[in-house]
Amino acid sequence: MIVNTARFIISNSDYKKCPAGMRHEYAFIGRSNVGKSSLINMLTGKKGLAMTSATPGKTMLINHFLINDSWYIVDLPGYGYARRSKSDRDRLEGIIKNYILGREQMTNLFVLVDSRHEPQKIDLEFMEWLGENGVPFSIVFTKLDKQSQTAGERKVAEYCAKLLETWEELPPIFQTSSEDKRGREALLGYIEEMNKLPILGSEQ
Ligand code: GTP
Ligand code: MG
Repeated sequence: MIVNTARFIISNSDYKKCPAGMRHEYAFIGRSNVGKSSLINMLTGKKGLAMTSATPGKTMLINHFLINDSWYIVDLPGYGYARRSKSDRDRLEGIIKNYILGREQMTNLFVLVDSRHEPQKIDLEFMEWLGENGVPFSIVFTKLDKQSQTAGERKVAEYCAKLLETWEELPPIFQTSSEDKRGREALLGYIEEMNKLPILGSEQ
């Protein structure tokens, strides 16, 4: 898919105030600093579109970006940033979970995990919560450029093995780097295919 236009539309803390109308929507979630905003900039080819930072906790709201005037990418706040106060973490968790459960247009949630790390409890539990709630999701491994190809492949394989201890089958898996643009075609192609399907809840 070719991304011709990508523009910021609105930021919200309440999913009910997100853009009206039934357009396909793809949200990006994961721990703080995993690379959500960078991945969105890489996919759209617009460096400053989503705000990135070396300091975790940059994205605090639900951010809508309209792509090719037809579908949305959504940048979500990260979860699990330990240095935030408990009340701030709870508030952000509320924003995220209400959005995920309430936003009918959300066609797929991309759950990002840092390819260098061992499977983290917080991510595995989050995915279990998605499964329990029937939320369609895929896993996106980030920052593959930060290690050798062999190390990256081993990490991804180990992660999948861990998932298969609890899941019967794996969700779609993508391997990416916002630095060298790895995984861009695969992700955009996947979105392009899903854009052809009716939006759940909009069929009569
Ligand atoms: P929050 O909004 O704080 O939850 O973080 P985020 O998940 O949006 O992460 P962000 O995109 O802001 O990136 C965090 C840091 O990781 C930044 O310093 C990025 O430059 C860096 N980064 C993100 N993706 C990659 C990648 O693929 N490769 C490399 N080398 N660095 C990356
Ligand atoms: Mg961010």
